[in-house]
Amino acid sequence: MGLLKNFLLSLMGLLLAYYFYSSPEFKPEMLKGKRVIITGASTGIGEQIAYHLAKMGAHVVITARTEEKLKKVVDKCLSLGAASAHFITGSMEDMAFARQVVIRAEKLLQGLDMLILNHITTSGFTYFNNDLENVLHIMKVNYLSYVAMTIKATPLLKKSQGSIVVVSSLAGKVPGPLTVAYSASKFALDGFFSSLRQEFIMQKKNISITLCILGLIDTENAMKTISGVLDSEPAPKEDCALEIIKGGALRQDEIYYSFLSTKFHTVMRALTPNLITEHFRKKLNVKNIKSP
Ligand SMILES: NC(=O)c1ccc[n+]([C@@H]2O[C@H](COP(=O)([O-])OP(=O)(O)OC[C@H]3O[C@@H](n4cnc5c(N)ncnc54)[C@H](OP(=O)(O)O)[C@@H]3O)[C@@H](O)[C@H]2O)c1
Ligand SMILES: *[C@@H]1O[C@H](CO)[C@@H](O)[C@H](O)[C@H]1NC(C)=O
Repeated sequence: MGLLKNFLLSLMGLLLAYYFYSSPEFKPEMLKGKRVIITGASTGIGEQIAYHLAKMGAHVVITARTEEKLKKVVDKCLSLGAASAHFITGSMEDMAFARQVVIRAEKLLQGLDMLILNHITTSGFTYFNNDLENVLHIMKVNYLSYVAMTIKATPLLKKSQGSIVVVSSLAGKVPGPLTVAYSASKFALDGFFSSLRQEFIMQKKNISITLCILGLIDTENAMKTISGVLDSEPAPKEDCALEIIKGGALRQDEIYYSFLSTKFHTVMRALTPNLITEHFRKKLNVKNIKSP
């Protein structure tokens, strides 16, 4: 018995050592001179991704709806050391605009190395209100525009052996109340991009796809949305943005941030679905839920 235990422990040690030594190391130089599109970069996590990439010397094209904010982010990117920085203004509810962003970015950058899909439309933290139009809007902005941009970007990324980075959420792995339509849009991203990743392998298209499973992050909008209802410690957006870039640069299939809580919930959901959803419902401050 003791012998078996020792054997198993040694085996585990060896596997862990192999895992750590064989996983490639991230270096900021990996992004130097890379041509990157970042969506939803006027604020929040996307804005922080732009700043990290600027410091690493990348070319960045950022997009969102609000021109004044984008201008400021572009200026700051240039002062941080971006090889170049441009913005494109418009709404991702419009699929023609989503495609145009890729076409215009290609002209600005003479190609594309990384597509970071990050934008979302605002959706509250409240009960589903049976509004089909709102579900359509959320699916267009949070999901279909990601598909539209990916279709346009695939030939460019094939040429550069580039990467697609998809920012998702724990709500895209574990269902929870108060974000019904948002959760559906994030699950759709997993279905689409995790399937597409396999086809790229089969077709020998060397484009990596990184799905980012994020827990609660301290962006202004997220904090406002959950305020009063969910009392959970958020992780910092600056650190989160860096982990997203690392995952893309290292061509990982998925990243989990903050790692322990998001990974734990995802694994638990697979093993014992009811236990974890019940635990989540109990954490909510039900009396503060706003009417939908
Ligand atoms: N923060 C969290 O706790 C958390 C947790 C899990 C996952 N995530 C994921 O992380 C990503 C970023 O979240 P965040 O908290 O940083 O979001 P955020 O601060 O609300 O930023 C959203 C970005 O999307 C843009 N946007 C909104 N509506 C748009 C539209 N119709 N067309 C084009 N752009 C639009 C916004 O700019 P404009 O308003 O100027 O257009 C903004 O730049 C999202 O994919 C989110 O699901 C966040
Ligand atoms: C895929 O692209 C990456 C990044 O350019 C490269 O490091 C890797 O060797 C490529 N793999 C194949 C099989 O060509």
